[in-house]
Amino acid sequence: MSILTITGGSKLSGIIEIPGAKNAVLPVLAATLLNKGISILENCPELDDVFTMLEILSALGCKIEREGSRIIVDATTLSSSVIPENLAKRMRSSIIMLGAVLGRCGDVLVSYPGGCEIGMRPIDMHLRALEQMGAEVDGLSHGMLKVSASKLQGCEILLDYPSVGATENIMLAATYAEGETIIRNAAKEPEIEDLQEFLKKMGVDVSGAGSGVIRIQGKKEIKSEPVHKIIPDRIVAGTYLAAAAATGGSLVVTGVEYDHIGSILYCLKRIGCKIKHYQGGVVTLESQGRLKAIDLIRTSPYPGFPTDMQPQIVSLLSICSGTSIVVETVFESRFRYTEQLLKLGADINVQGRAAIIRGVEKLKGAEVEARDLRGGAALIIAGLAAEGETRISGVGYIDRGYEKVEKVLSKVGAQIRRVED
Ligand code: UD1
Repeated sequence: MSILTITGGSKLSGIIEIPGAKNAVLPVLAATLLNKGISILENCPELDDVFTMLEILSALGCKIEREGSRIIVDATTLSSSVIPENLAKRMRSSIIMLGAVLGRCGDVLVSYPGGCEIGMRPIDMHLRALEQMGAEVDGLSHGMLKVSASKLQGCEILLDYPSVGATENIMLAATYAEGETIIRNAAKEPEIEDLQEFLKKMGVDVSGAGSGVIRIQGKKEIKSEPVHKIIPDRIVAGTYLAAAAATGGSLVVTGVEYDHIGSILYCLKRIGCKIKHYQGGVVTLESQGRLKAIDLIRTSPYPGFPTDMQPQIVSLLSICSGTSIVVETVFESRFRYTEQLLKLGADINVQGRAAIIRGVEKLKGAEVEARDLRGGAALIIAGLAAEGETRISGVGYIDRGYEKVEKVLSKVGAQIRRVED
C-alpha cells in the first residue's frame, strides 16, 4: 500500500496541463457500446476508474486498444450483457452502463451499487425512468439487479432532481428506443454536453444538452466511426488552482475550458486570488498574503459551485482569515473528511449539511487517511500548506481521479513523494 508524504510550505509555481475529464470519459465509454463499429477517443485520462471501465467493456466482448491517452473501442463483437460483479463493485459509476447495455442487448445484469463515504447514492431515478420506457426491473438476491426490455419506448421523463448519472443513462437507453425521448429537468453539466457531442458523432439525433431539456430520437442501428476528444477535467483544474492558492503560489493551468470552471474561479477570486484567463484555455492564478474567508458557499448542480470541489475549497478556507460557511446541498454526508483536517489543526464544525470553518494561521503536518477521492484531494491541499510533514494513506482513492498526482505537483515545486508503506 502506498502513502503520500508531503513536506508543506513550498509555494507552487509553474504550469500544469489539465487532462481529459474522468466524469466525461466514463459515460462516453459506455456510449461506445451502442456503436456496432469502432469508436476512437482522445484525451482520455490514465486513471484506475478508466482502466476498470475498459476491463468491463472487454468482459462484455469489446476489443480495446489503448495508446497513452487514446482509446479505441470496437463494440461490433459485443457478446454479453452481464457486468462482472467484481468489476462493478470496484467502480460505483459502472451503473452508467445500464442504459447502454440495455439499449443494445435488451437486458442487463449488474450489481446494485451500495452507499459510500459521501452518502447513500440511490439509483431510483435511473430505474424509474427505464421503467417508464418499458423496461422491467428485478432486484435479485445477492444485491444483483436485472433490467430487461424486449423493446424500449421513447417517452417524456421529468427528473425530480437533475441527476447527472440518471440523465446519462436515459440518453443512452433512448438511443435505441422507438420514437422520441424528452428528458426534462436534465442535468446541465459539461459532461452531459460532451456525451451529446459524442452521440451526435455516432449519428444519433440528440439536442438540448446544457439547457435542461434533452431530446433524443431513437435509431434502429448505429454503425459508424466517431472520433472524439474528451473535454478537460474541470475538477482537476480547480483542485490544482486551490492547491496553488493554499501555498501562496502562482500557477498556470492550460487546456481548460474557462466557462466550465467559472464558479470555481469566482470563489477563488472572492477569497483574494488574482485570476486571469487567456485564449486557448489558459488560466493563471496568483495568491499573495493571507487570503480571506467567504461568508457562504452552497454547492449545487452546474452551473453552481460543484460538490466535487467542496472538500478542496473547505481545506483552503481552513487557512483563510475569518469564518466561512459551506453548505453541501447535493450529497447528504460529504463532510466526513473534515475529521482528518482537524488532525492538521483546522477549526471546522460540521452541523448537518453545513460546515463552519474558522480560519487558522497555520496547519501542522499529521498522519491522515483519505477515504474518498475529493476528500483525499482536500488532504493534499492541507498538507501542502501545513508546517512539517503530512502522511496520507488511502492513496488508492486519490488515484481514481488524479493522474500521477505526486509527479504533477512535484513539477510545480511541491515536496511530495509516494512511498510504499
Ligand atoms: C456524478 C459524478 C460525481 C458528482 C455528481 C454530482 C460521475 C461519474 N460522477 O455522480 O462526481 O459528484 O455527479 O455532480 O459523473 N440521486 C437520487 N436518486 C438517483 C440518482 C441520484 O436520489 O436515482 C441523488 C444522489 O444521491 C445525490 C444527487 O441525487 O444526492 C446527485 O446525484 P447525481 O447527480 O446522480 O450524481 P452521480 O451521477 O452519481
